[in-house]
Amino acid sequence: MKNSLFGQDLTTVDSLEASDLALIFQKTDRMKKLTVEKGGDDSLKGKIGAFLFFEPSTRTFSSFITAMQRLGGGIIPLNGMKNTSVEKGESFEHTVRVFSTYADCLIIRHPEVGYPTKATQVSAVPVVNAGDGPGEHPTQALLDVYTIVRRFPDKKELTVTLAGDLKFGRTVHSLAKLLLKTDKKINFNLVSPEMLAMPYEITVKIKKSSSVFETSKLSETISVSDVIYMTRVQKERFENPAEYEKLKSFYRLDKSLLTRAKKEVIIMHPLPIAANEISHELDDDPRSLYLKDQLKNGLAVRMALLDVILNP
Ligand code: NCD
Repeated sequence: MKNSLFGQDLTTVDSLEASDLALIFQKTDRMKKLTVEKGGDDSLKGKIGAFLFFEPSTRTFSSFITAMQRLGGGIIPLNGMKNTSVEKGESFEHTVRVFSTYADCLIIRHPEVGYPTKATQVSAVPVVNAGDGPGEHPTQALLDVYTIVRRFPDKKELTVTLAGDLKFGRTVHSLAKLLLKTDKKINFNLVSPEMLAMPYEITVKIKKSSSVFETSKLSETISVSDVIYMTRVQKERFENPAEYEKLKSFYRLDKSLLTRAKKEVIIMHPLPIAANEISHELDDDPRSLYLKDQLKNGLAVRMALLDVILNP
């Protein structure tokens, strides 16, 4: 398969073609096998990744680092910019220029929308967006779409429920758009309180090729869903803490709500679960993938992505 991602940035899922997805997913299958059989290889030997996380992260940060290391690459891991010259007032542009001199790729998370794109303007090496404020989270979407398409290889049509904070949740912004690039027909249920609705531009975009049902009631969507993707209300994006407190526990998915669900439904969440939006009683339920497939696939997808960006 032709690799058109070599040397390229990944700041939004908009730049990905269906053929890119096919390449990344085929490599992801191989990376999963490689990890189980040998732990890794040295395909990224001599390459260095700089991980510049201006905002907290558990999984994205550590899975990217693990991915680099399992493929024999080196790391500059900055989880938070404390103790760097950013504290002395160094500009974002200078920080990017410095690390792009040391490393072969930059993985950037930032609280402001558009900063990874801004980095591409001054970086000498490829930039990957690891989450930009309430903007996008392309690598989370890659792992989520991979998880969905591998779970339902034979289904031509899927009903996907995205629930929770669709306004500020960057994972669902990227996921909704990336699902359109698969060969499946997607029916979307967008479930949120009115104040946390999916941004208008994204809804317009997905409506062009998919049916979209919008509601504030999760219960209305349970019985028809193949995928229920829950999200955390994004506390850090609220200006008014009282508003967050009002909305944080708007949804709670539990066993009783799932009694009407399809037998083969899958339950997903990008994590962290912060306000019990999925009850802990579902953590070990066979339908729940958030502490299983999504984590494993997140590592393998990031291994695949680093490989295609750094190797021709
Ligand atoms: C998400 C994020 O950072 O956007 N976490 C992650 O990367 N898996 C979701 C969230 O924080 O709610």
